[in-house]
Amino acid sequence: MKKYHDEAVSILEKNDRGGYTVPTSSGLYPAQWNWDSCLVALGWAQFNEERAWQEIDSLFAAQWPDGMIPHIVFHGDDSTYFPNSRVWAAGPSKRTSGISQPPVAATVVRYLYEKFSTSFTRTKTAEIIPKLVRWHEWFYYARDQHRTGLVAIIHPWESGMDNSPVWDRALSRVPEAASVAHLRRDTEFAATEERPTGADYNRYLHLLYTFRDHQYSPEKLFSITPFRIADVGFNSILARANKDLAFLRKEIGGYASAIEYPQAVEKLWDETAGFYFSLDSVEDKPISKPGIGSFLPIFADPGALARHPQIKTHLRRWLAKLNFGLCSFDPDRPEFEPQRYWRGPVWLIVNWMLMDGLRQAGCDDIADRLLKASLQLVERHGFFEYFDPRAGKGLGGPDFSWTAAMYLFLEEEFATEGR
Ligand code: GLC
Repeated sequence: MKKYHDEAVSILEKNDRGGYTVPTSSGLYPAQWNWDSCLVALGWAQFNEERAWQEIDSLFAAQWPDGMIPHIVFHGDDSTYFPNSRVWAAGPSKRTSGISQPPVAATVVRYLYEKFSTSFTRTKTAEIIPKLVRWHEWFYYARDQHRTGLVAIIHPWESGMDNSPVWDRALSRVPEAASVAHLRRDTEFAATEERPTGADYNRYLHLLYTFRDHQYSPEKLFSITPFRIADVGFNSILARANKDLAFLRKEIGGYASAIEYPQAVEKLWDETAGFYFSLDSVEDKPISKPGIGSFLPIFADPGALARHPQIKTHLRRWLAKLNFGLCSFDPDRPEFEPQRYWRGPVWLIVNWMLMDGLRQAGCDDIADRLLKASLQLVERHGFFEYFDPRAGKGLGGPDFSWTAAMYLFLEEEFATEGR
């Protein structure tokens, strides 16, 4: 709808800091986040092709010499954020974090490439491909040192789904750093009950300090981290990105890669539970708790729905339970918290990934439900960071860039007549 379309455009413009977009102007996240930027490019692409590319370029300008693209790039004053660049003290510039985030970039670049067939797009695509190749190779080198075909996250922040109950057990192995409650700034900008707990934060910081003590060396980090998980959501996003990157390499040509990227997500299927589960790679045990990541294999491979019809049954169960889907954690489990971040609320960016897989698999009824819920959440409650799946209340930061971007993108690419 025009009114919301215009509002979404003005949110992106307001959150633009000149070549990169902050997640929200509320002060909650005063820097550039990796997957936020890529997803926000999908929004910019609806009205400004060049600006969409700038978002990707500014992120990739922070690529480390070993190929990693960090999860945060600090540009200006980051004093309202904790942990900021001084705490991380990471990378050659000391202006980035020292871990990564879900690699959606190749999928976004493929979208831009296919949407705009200008010579500008072709040039930009050709420039970014070698950087994407190095980043994807980095994952297999740095985060799959046992060569399983599945890459591991070594910090909950790397998953993008910071406090999902899926990490609880592994995180409980991590000692708590001395309390950082007095240093946290996030609870000044969002309600405490909508943010991760104090104990979680102290553990996040313990991991950060440990990685910093080891100069972020990938070899060391992989073996010393007490938190190491082959996250099904992350691996699905990477598998999809691998496919999209292979497509681009074929289109543009000339960029050989040493790795034929494995697609090992199927190893995470649990036939008894009828779910894909993440794997705790320290204990070598599946984590039999379904977060929303358990559905993401359909984003990588829509064929997963035909192979495993149970996935649809679970999706319908989750949707039947609440007014607005899809919640980020199994609503029938005791850990479900409808207002706390990744422990229950709805996030539009994940809804898009599910819709994409569902549409490709021909499962339009569920995709349409997710689309309707996503657009209604915004139109009735505003452009919030995430939403309560019961009544739809907006939670976390207001005027959120990726929510605005998803609105623009879904409206353009997914909405059909008469919704
Ligand atoms: C939180 C989210 C993460 C996001 C970041 C900035 O840490 O969990 O996914 O990238 O905020 O929006």
